Amino acid sequence: MFIVLLGPPGVGKGTQAELLSQELGLPHVSSGELFREAIKAGTALGRKAQRYIDQGKLVPDKVTIAMVAERLNQPDCAGGAILDGFPRTIGQAKALDKVLAQRNASVDLVVYMNGSMEMLLQRLGGRWTCRNCQAVYHILHNPPREPGKCDLCGGELYQREDDTAETQRKRIEVYLEQTAPLVEHYRQRGLLVEINGELDIPGVYAQLRAALDRIR
Ligand code: AP5
Repeated sequence: MFIVLLGPPGVGKGTQAELLSQELGLPHVSSGELFREAIKAGTALGRKAQRYIDQGKLVPDKVTIAMVAERLNQPDCAGGAILDGFPRTIGQAKALDKVLAQRNASVDLVVYMNGSMEMLLQRLGGRWTCRNCQAVYHILHNPPREPGKCDLCGGELYQREDDTAETQRKRIEVYLEQTAPLVEHYRQRGLLVEINGELDIPGVYAQLRAALDRIR
């Protein structure tokens, strides 16, 4: 089963993808996370991606598609995956169809999570991430037990470099221009379910599970 989580920066895609991944036993494939790993490892891909990420722009399709296709071709994705942050352009959506068709698979469900601009900025501004295991916290809504320390592995929590006020706004602008058209693209194909991202984490997850139950 291949499930796509679509929505603006900060709406909670990563948080929900992680919960769903644990429950379904499917890998959580986050294009943003793959880029951050490449940046941390200092690879050529990471150096190229960083220029775009720092400015809040999308990394070019060619580079992104090759990276995600390689990840989806790994054995743990044989039975499906939860895709978070990919596809983000019509070109990426078409490429995903091709990659999946090569293995007689297709996108089963696209969950569109939405929320107000005020909520997105509030969530991005309060996000802290573990440097070690990438667990995500929020200073108000999902705080760690001990400030600055990950509950799961004890790792150091940090704020993402692309979560500065200026870059947050740019990312939302880029989302509206380049990614929002995917909502109509998938709606026309009958794959889209829209859920309210404004609820608390269990409330959003309940809607996600209900959408999944309907297609199963
Ligand atoms: P990426 O890492 O994908 O960032 P994003 O899409 O901007 O999404 P975020 O990770 O910021 O937010 P999220 O929706 O996952 O929210 P989260 O669960 O963390 O991409 C980063 C960059 O990489 C891009 O800008 C681009 O440059 C590049 N890139 C990535 N993919 C690309 C692609 N396909 N093509 C080209 N370039 C690409 O939650 C946010 C906060 O809210 C957290 O603190 C969380 O604890 C809290 N929270 C979550 N849910 C709730 C809730 N229901 N109630 C209260 N708080 C909540």
